[in-house]
Amino acid sequence: HATNPLTSVPNRVISLTRRSSYTSALSLRPLIPLGTLMSVLNITAKLAAPLDQIKTQALVVLVPERKSLATRLKQLDKYLGGTLSRTITNGDFLSSIGSTCWLPGTQGIHRVLLVGCGSMNQRTIVSDKKIAEALARTLVSSNAKDAIVWTEGLSPKAAQPERLLEQIALHLTLSHYQYSQTLNHRKKSARALRRVSVTPANLCTPATAKRALDAGSATGRGANLTRELVNLPGNICTPRYLAGEARKLAKQHASLSVSVLDERKMADLGMHSLLSVGNGSEQPSRLITLKYQGASAKTRPYCLVGKGITFDTGGISLKPGAKMDEMKFDMGGAASVFGAIHAAALLKLPINIVGVVAAAENMPSGTATKPGDVITSLSGKTIEILNTDAEGRLVLCDALTYVSRFSPEEVIDIATLTGAIIVALGHEATGIFSNDDHLADSLLAAGSRAHDRGWRFPIWEEYHRQLESPFADLANIGTGGAGSITAACFLAEFAEDYKWAHLDIAGTAFRSSPKGATGRPVPMLVDYLRERAGRR
Ligand code: BES
Ligand code: MN
Ligand code: ZN
Repeated sequence: HATNPLTSVPNRVISLTRRSSYTSALSLRPLIPLGTLMSVLNITAKLAAPLDQIKTQALVVLVPERKSLATRLKQLDKYLGGTLSRTITNGDFLSSIGSTCWLPGTQGIHRVLLVGCGSMNQRTIVSDKKIAEALARTLVSSNAKDAIVWTEGLSPKAAQPERLLEQIALHLTLSHYQYSQTLNHRKKSARALRRVSVTPANLCTPATAKRALDAGSATGRGANLTRELVNLPGNICTPRYLAGEARKLAKQHASLSVSVLDERKMADLGMHSLLSVGNGSEQPSRLITLKYQGASAKTRPYCLVGKGITFDTGGISLKPGAKMDEMKFDMGGAASVFGAIHAAALLKLPINIVGVVAAAENMPSGTATKPGDVITSLSGKTIEILNTDAEGRLVLCDALTYVSRFSPEEVIDIATLTGAIIVALGHEATGIFSNDDHLADSLLAAGSRAHDRGWRFPIWEEYHRQLESPFADLANIGTGGAGSITAACFLAEFAEDYKWAHLDIAGTAFRSSPKGATGRPVPMLVDYLRERAGRR
């Protein structure tokens, strides 16, 4: 369809006259290349060896709450010269969930880490996560270079032991991550831990254990990639930088391919809503497509669409100064698309995925979009931009129209979209919005299985009416409250052709204290993708 020349982005803006790039390209280049930095923790399943043949810098022992020690723990206690039973009778280690205690080792075992598992009869994802987190945090901050996680103290009757193993691998990987790219001192205080092997003992078969450990560590590696990109400052992580990172990721996996649209190509297609957001910036916008092929080329893909605002000043509707630095996190959705696809590729999931990232920087300037401006989106719908700080929906709507061309099975967009979602859910749950009950339920279920939870909101027609405008088909903000819902309603207008869900991660993608990215909602997304791939 033809775009209305009156409501498209003027050519001047997308011409090459921008002062552009020399600052970020040269003087502000990352200190250390990303690849070398993200050291990977190797986690494997291994058959248990007799105690006197174990050689490790740390033997991590899972200890359930029981009246007396299990037989294998009694044998371990004897081998350690009674330190385990003495610690317990002294009352220094109660085996409550998530409690930890270091003991000196003997012979080939340098040290022993006791990890309390509570009563193993009432295990849930929450208790598994607590055990895994405590284990990981304590082990990773030690000097041990390698470790063995010894599960022989647990009852072989423990239900779904692979869930616990998966959480252990996930949290070891997450705990191992440290932001370091712009910190010179971190090079000296790098993590000591390199290798962990887990002995499933009689809990499950080594093959089951390996699958669970691989799933946990792939999810963790995906989430860590997301965290690193989200943590990077806005002067380094620009739309072009994100495109470069997508290309780098594709070099790591034969199953991935990338294509990037620059502003000229986006203008030719008619993506004037997306382009309107980067109008005021010296940094050119990008539309990044990262494809994962794990099934036959004919199979319809799952599409993940990410909000990639590399810095959100609000534009002419300028944000207040306090905490504005946190708006470097406004590409959390984009980073979670990369993270989830990285994990899917590591796991070789037998599905196809298309990730589309809409990347732009939202800045005020003489060329910036102004309140009241009307633009034509890729869909042909005109939009009155009443508030330039409601920019996420403006980049996403064109990306949502764009993904129709892939005949998607389902589409999920992920965005740090509204401050209002923090009012509603705080930092515990991701907001879920969907035009399809089955998809919404699947995401809710994936979130609870992974303990990376979401909560669904309505997108009723009554809310849609808030977006009526006297000057365009749609206004970009509502007028009567429910800010997260009206934002989702805006997106729904561009997602009518397929099953679609929107994840508002403004409350979950990062923390203010200690400040940094969480890697959410990568665990939820990876769990959903595994389920769709029949691997859950
Ligand atoms: N990126 C923000 C949302 C946000 C706020 C993310 C806080 C993380 C933490 C988004 O672009 C925004 O500015 N939304 C506005 C929408 C409003 C203008 C309708 C908001 O939430 O205030
Ligand atoms: Mn904004
Ligand atoms: Zn934003």
